[in-house]
Parts: sequence; structure tokens; C-alpha cells
Amino acid sequence: MRILVTGGAGYIGSHTLISLLSKEHEICVVDNYVNSSPIALDRVRRLTNHDFEQHDLDIGNGPELSNVFTKFQPEAVIHFAGLKAVGESERDPLLYYHENISGAISLLKAMDACNCRQIVFSSSATVYGEPCYLPYDEKHPLAPINPYGRTKYFIEEIIKDWTKTDNNKKAILLRYFNPVGADNSGEIGEDPDGIPNNLLPFIAQVAVGRLEHLNIFGDDYDTRDGTGIRDYIHVSDLADGHAAAVNYFTKMSGVEIFNLGTGNGISVFEVVEAFKQASGKDIPFHIAPRRNGDLPAYWAESKKANNLLGWSANYTIDDICRDSWHWQSKNQEGYK
Ligand code: NAD
Ligand code: UD1
Repeated sequence: MRILVTGGAGYIGSHTLISLLSKEHEICVVDNYVNSSPIALDRVRRLTNHDFEQHDLDIGNGPELSNVFTKFQPEAVIHFAGLKAVGESERDPLLYYHENISGAISLLKAMDACNCRQIVFSSSATVYGEPCYLPYDEKHPLAPINPYGRTKYFIEEIIKDWTKTDNNKKAILLRYFNPVGADNSGEIGEDPDGIPNNLLPFIAQVAVGRLEHLNIFGDDYDTRDGTGIRDYIHVSDLADGHAAAVNYFTKMSGVEIFNLGTGNGISVFEVVEAFKQASGKDIPFHIAPRRNGDLPAYWAESKKANNLLGWSANYTIDDICRDSWHWQSKNQEGYK
């Protein structure tokens, strides 16, 4: 299939390219590198031995985006491009509403202009908010608790309305849990700008000596060891979920929503221990106050994706830590 990938140079996008190219899809990447490096795309080419189109372009630039669509004539879009830092979204909500929502609208308009009717959208488990029950399934009520999460919720709704304008339009909304790890080559991985907000990249930078110690945000939650519990999914499993989603277009109409997670909750202490084992490094930590907005625990019900997409997560937390360590130790300063 001819697939246009927005944000393809980013963390999840670059890993997804590997999955798609290995299945012989034809790819065109649109990225403005606001949070990524074109080096990731060169590495994907080298790893897969496949070439693809690449455009340095902001998806908000409607006329240029339409030109790319007209030339490439994609049959489907996978939409990763957007801003994703929760704290930043609280400090500057208008930036997030503008970039994420206007970006999505600009993309859907470009799709309409060239009759491209299939989209896979990167949504997030963050749309569920405070758990009414666990694990979250796709029918769980939606109540995101920060502007970033609300952009995901609003874009889901916009895409649903977009599909209603034409019986042939199809959308797959993928709600990711906590994507972590790296391609097992150690050539591509997560390369956050500045001090990482998320647990795994933070631990990896402590292990490699870039940061002194980990702050564990609370050890007094009502969980099995007092620390927060999340569903960590290997980014290569997540990438394969996109290839499975694209295949599913022929079997569906309208909108389908899938959780992509492992179904297992892992605590912060358990992640630290697994990383120590994988890296052979000590991970010094301090217990710090709870982080504002953090939920104690959540994990996915992913049976719908297992049953309909024929997809399931295969990698364990030990595999995740091994691959994360491989990437970080091979690329201490990321792509720089
Ligand atoms: P990322 O920042 O690594 O990738 C996003 C890519 O989009 C980057 O390459 C960035 O340069 C590009 N981009 C951003 N705005 C753009 C614009 N206006 N025009 C063109 N390109 C633009 O993030 P990621 O972790 O790979 O996440 C990909 C998607 O998945 C995002 O939409 C994110 O919100 C969503 N998501 C991520 C996580 C996670 O934990 N990483 C969890 C749930 C959902
Ligand atoms: C965060 C975002 C969420 C986003 C997700 C993407 C917040 C509040 N939530 O989720 O919207 O979809 O990333 O993966 O930012 N932790 C520490 N020390 C650290 C970092 C994290 O103890 O330095 C703990 C957290 O308290 C949490 C767990 O590790 O219990 C995972 O945190 P993180 O990796 O930031 O992911 P989420 O909070 O699940």
C-alpha cells in the first residue's frame, strides 16, 4: 500500500517505518523535525535496505502538503505528527490546541483534496483519565485530565465526524499505552530533548551517566509496592500494531478503536530492577513527592486488537530494558 506517514522521523514513527518497509509498503514521510532528527530516517533506510520519499514540511502548511499528496497519491495516512509533552501542554495549552488540532484538520483537508480516505491516528491511553475500572477497555468513558490528552480526544472526535461525510472513509484510532524500548539493532530509539519527562529514557540516561539519579515520584500509592503502575509496551510491538492496523482497512468500515498495550501492569521499582539487570549498572534513586496529574495505576485490555488485528505484544519488560540500554549505550547523546 502507498502510505503517507506524518511524524515518521519521530520515536514511534521511525520504528513503524521499519515494520511497514519490511512488508513492502511504499512510504512517504512528512516531518518538520521539531522533535526529531532526519538521521533517524537515514538509519531506517540502512537497516531496511529500502528507500522512501521524505519531505521537510509542517503539516499545517496546507498548500505544500496538498502538493505532496497530489504527487504521492497515498491510499492511507498514518498520523503521528504532533506535540506530546503533558507539562508543556499545561503551560501553553494554545500551542497544543493549535499544533495538534489545526495540524490534524490541515491533514484531513489534504486527504480530502486527493481522495485519500483511510487514516490511522496515534491516540493515547491518556484519553481515558481517572479509571472507572481496570483494565481500561475501548468502551471505558473518556475524561482526559490535561490539554495534551484533550487534543487527542478532540482529534478522535474530529476524525469520527470526518468519516461520516463519505461511506468509504475509514479511520483506525490507536490508543497507545506506554511506548518504550528501541529497535534491537540499537540504531534508532527515543531521543528526548533536554531532561526526559518519562521513566524509561530517564533511567537509561542515569545508567549511562548523563543524569545522577532517578527521582521516583511517590512510593506511597495503593499499589503492590507503593510506586506507580503502567503498561509498558515495546515500541517494536507497537510498530507492528500499525502494520496490522493498515491490513485491517479491507475488513472494516467507518471507525475502529484499538488499545495497544500488553495487558500487564509493571511498577516503577520493577522497571528499575529490570533495567539494573539488563545494563549491569546501578540506578541510584531518591523517593520524591508524587508528580501532579499522575494516576496510581492503569493498564490495557488489548483483547480487541488481539482478536481483530491478529496482533499481540510479544516483548517483556526485560527485552524492553535490554533494547533501551543497547540504544542508549550505543548512542549516549542520542542522534547528536
Ligand atoms: P515524537 O515527538 O518522537 O514524534 C512526533 C514527530 O512528529 C516528530 O518527528 C516531530 O518532529 C513531528 N512533528 C511534530 N509536529 C509536526 C508538524 N506540525 N508537522 C510535521 N511534523 C511534525 O513522538 P512519538 O513518541 O513518536 O509520538 C508519536 C505520536 O504518538 C504523537 O502523536 C504522540 O502524541 C502519540 N503518542 C505517543 C506516546 C508516547 O509515549 N511516545 C504515547 C501515546 C501517544
Ligand atoms: C506520561 C504522560 C501521559 C503520556 C505518557 C506517554 C504525564 C502526567 N503523563 O504518562 O499523558 O501519554 O507519558 O508515555 O506526564 N516516574 C518516576 N520518575 C520519573 C518519571 C516517571 O517515578 O522521572 C513514574 C511516574 O510517576 C509513573 C511512571 O514512572 O508512575 C511512568 O511515568 P511516565 O513514563 O512519565 O509515563 P506516564 O506518567 O504513564
